[in-house]
Amino acid sequence: MRLHSILGLVGLGYLASASNLHARNYEAQDYYVLHLDPTTPPSQVAVKLGLTHEGPLGELQDHHVFSCHKQEEDVVHTALKERRRRKRSIGGYDVLDGVKLAQKQKLKARMEKRGIIPPRPAGYASPIEERQTPEEAAVAKQASVAAALGIQDPIFNEQWHLFNPVQIGHDVNVTDIWMQGITGHNATVAIVDDGLDMYSDDLKDNYFAEGSYDFNDNQLEPKPVLSDDKHGTRCAGEVSAVKNNVCGVGVAWDSKIAGIRILSKMITDADEAIAMNYAYQKNQIYSCSWGPPDDGRSMDAPGILIKRAMLNAVQNGRGGLGSIYVFASGNGAMNEDNCNFDGYTNSIYSITVGAIDRKGLHPYYSEKCSAQLVVTYSSGSGDAIHTTDVGTNACYSGHGGTSAAAPLAAGIFALVLQIRPDLTWRDMQYLVMQTALPIDLETGEWQTTSIGRKFSHTFGYGKIDTWATVEAAKTFQNVKPQAWYYSPWIHVNQAIPQGDQGLAVSFEVTADMLMAANVERLEHVTVSMNIDHKRRGDLSVDLVSPDKVISHLSVTRRLDTAAEGYNDWTFMSVVHWGESGIGTWTIIVKDTVVNEFNGTFIDWHLKLWGESIDASKATLLPMPSEHDDDNHDLVVSTTTIAGATTSVTPVATPTSLMANPTDHPDRPTKPTGTTDEETSATATSSPAATTSASSWLPSFFPTFSSKTQFWIYGAAALILIFCSALGIYLYMARRKRLRNNPRDEWEFDLLEEDETEGLTGGGKKGTKKGGKRRAGELYDAFAAGSDEESEEYLDEGGDEREKKLYESDDEGKHVIGEDEDEEEGDHNEKNQGEHLLRK
Ligand SMILES: *[C@@H]1O[C@H](CO)[C@@H](O)[C@H](O)[C@H]1NC(C)=O
Ligand SMILES: *[C@@H]1O[C@H](CO)[C@@H](O)[C@H](O)[C@H]1NC(C)=O
Ligand SMILES: *[C@@H]1O[C@H](CO)[C@@H](O)[C@H](O)[C@H]1NC(C)=O
Repeated sequence: MRLHSILGLVGLGYLASASNLHARNYEAQDYYVLHLDPTTPPSQVAVKLGLTHEGPLGELQDHHVFSCHKQEEDVVHTALKERRRRKRSIGGYDVLDGVKLAQKQKLKARMEKRGIIPPRPAGYASPIEERQTPEEAAVAKQASVAAALGIQDPIFNEQWHLFNPVQIGHDVNVTDIWMQGITGHNATVAIVDDGLDMYSDDLKDNYFAEGSYDFNDNQLEPKPVLSDDKHGTRCAGEVSAVKNNVCGVGVAWDSKIAGIRILSKMITDADEAIAMNYAYQKNQIYSCSWGPPDDGRSMDAPGILIKRAMLNAVQNGRGGLGSIYVFASGNGAMNEDNCNFDGYTNSIYSITVGAIDRKGLHPYYSEKCSAQLVVTYSSGSGDAIHTTDVGTNACYSGHGGTSAAAPLAAGIFALVLQIRPDLTWRDMQYLVMQTALPIDLETGEWQTTSIGRKFSHTFGYGKIDTWATVEAAKTFQNVKPQAWYYSPWIHVNQAIPQGDQGLAVSFEVTADMLMAANVERLEHVTVSMNIDHKRRGDLSVDLVSPDKVISHLSVTRRLDTAAEGYNDWTFMSVVHWGESGIGTWTIIVKDTVVNEFNGTFIDWHLKLWGESIDASKATLLPMPSEHDDDNHDLVVSTTTIAGATTSVTPVATPTSLMANPTDHPDRPTKPTGTTDEETSATATSSPAATTSASSWLPSFFPTFSSKTQFWIYGAAALILIFCSALGIYLYMARRKRLRNNPRDEWEFDLLEEDETEGLTGGGKKGTKKGGKRRAGELYDAFAAGSDEESEEYLDEGGDEREKKLYESDDEGKHVIGEDEDEEEGDHNEKNQGEHLLRK
């Protein structure tokens, strides 16, 4: 039975968004999502394909869900393929020409909740024993705050994260904000999780039915069902537990709280995309304490529909101000997991929140990364977060993990939105970045950024200080709209030396490029890259900005044995916030372990995101497609940069990068040709190298052009000269920049003798790669008719003739669209495997 018919009877206005939701029957039905040209009627597509039109896909424009009886075959894929074939031979119009993307939906394993059940030592149950005079004063203040605000909640005194009378100062510093009457009134947080007990006496008064839905059991109320459906309710309590005589209070106890239930069963990308946009004019903040497994092995990003939903939310949610996504950084630090291997936490659209414990220490589980913006309190040092539990009057004292940190942050952002509902999603990130407090300065590996803030990969910009954040919010000036600059793909195609050496490639960003792209100052930086490698966990990647600020984009992971390398993976950094972006950006890839697992750095692509210079010229980012990084659809620029300077042996350098064409200043351009010719890397110092003196690099590095620098450390002699000079250089640079950063991993240390030996020894395995790789497709796009292309296509199991037809077709929209569809199929298959590990 269809849900909307029931809802129609109910006739409540607010059910508008719910009314589009149809119950799914995954046992008997297949579901497809099609992105259609706006002029293509879904009903006609349905007829043509023999499908039932189920309705629009949530809030995504021109995306529709279709269904049919279950079968092995991807009937849409087959039909589209057939249509393409016919179009080429016969031409004409067909309603299927309006299909821009098609994806058969597959159930994926559940996301993992990011809760940790901590040990419960007795120590903190009765803090009174530890009291000394300052603590006595703190306890007295706690009592007076409670009295002044009329807080009678029985476990308020256990809620150390709100007011900590034991480790003084280790709390979110909220009480004086409450005293100002800022308690979350008129702000709404949605907990995207395993349910929310809207009948809890501690939540029911704040429950926001309009923003709530159960995507697992297709009903309006996201009530917990399974025995372990407690996580969402506990998160909700942290945000919005009512000030009453039940349990404790939420940090924003007058806020409204919605529940969006997605974690209790497998769901499809389509439903997750709908969930992430659910009631997005009214739900302001989406708190997400889950993600791919934090096992130190996974490298998983949301599928294209979910990516589109998140972009749609920041562009159109909350009346165009943008939904605020808050994500838990992940609990895999003990597995050497890192939040840059998770495409939700490293999205520029999410605020990634890690944990600190009640002593202000980094808990063993909380993941580090260059995409982490901030931290706040959670479990560790023998205690956890005390909050509401499932039940009419149930409390829980063991809520923990980064799961507990994210909702606390979400609640604090609700306080901000009470007084500044006009802040955009980017304003909120600025505010958080600017007001976080650095902690644990001795061991936190802090570096000072260009704008004088401190950043630590462990703590982001520090811990949230609610008072500081809300006070700053009162006078915060909204920033101008977003702009972005994309570098061309920088082709490298070099073996990565093993050990402490690195392979470094630079790219110069000029003032003109950023001017043309309308970028005034940076916010996020993303790097997409392709590396072929036999053991992914051996790799690390650092990005050094023109201001010599360093992002550890990727770190080694001992458990990650995947033989896949990085396939168009995008890393993100918030470390360069506020920089101009102008100058030389250097990426340093290391294969840290000398063993038989080696690899090749294929290419990379730098994207600088920031505030626009001229707000009136700002545009909205187009919806992502699987092909964004392949760059099929862009016009070739007419400007080339001169090739390598004379005396350097032409290794596979980015010799002929294209400048940005003026008609697409903000989009990448494709290189004039691939630089596949693999010559051995006998780089010698170039007389021309000193021309790059503006670079931070020692001047003897070979320079290939004013735009790019490239050097490798292959030859032993070079290494020796280079290491000593660089050693001195780095020592100076390090003293200057990284006094507090004892373990910076980006420098090139002198090789130890045994490591040098290791370089030449070691059984090397057979030549790499038989399989299909996306990077190959990337090159196909530019090298029509290459051998790789045919190989590629045959791998796909298709017939070559059709591919040739496709390749020789014009560059029109249809081709792109169809090709996109082809890709989606691949993506799907890939996804299926990737999601196996999820809970
Ligand atoms: C906490 O809030 C108070 C105001 O209540 C403020 O003076 C103080 O600077 C804030 N931060 C810390 C770390 O105490
Ligand atoms: C409540 O929030 C909405 C949307 O953010 C805003 O338009 C409205 O003015 C707010 N109301 C009050 C009383 O602050
Ligand atoms: C990896 O090692 C094998 C075996 O020694 C060698 O043939 C291959 O060229 C190496 N590949 C790279 C990228 O270094």
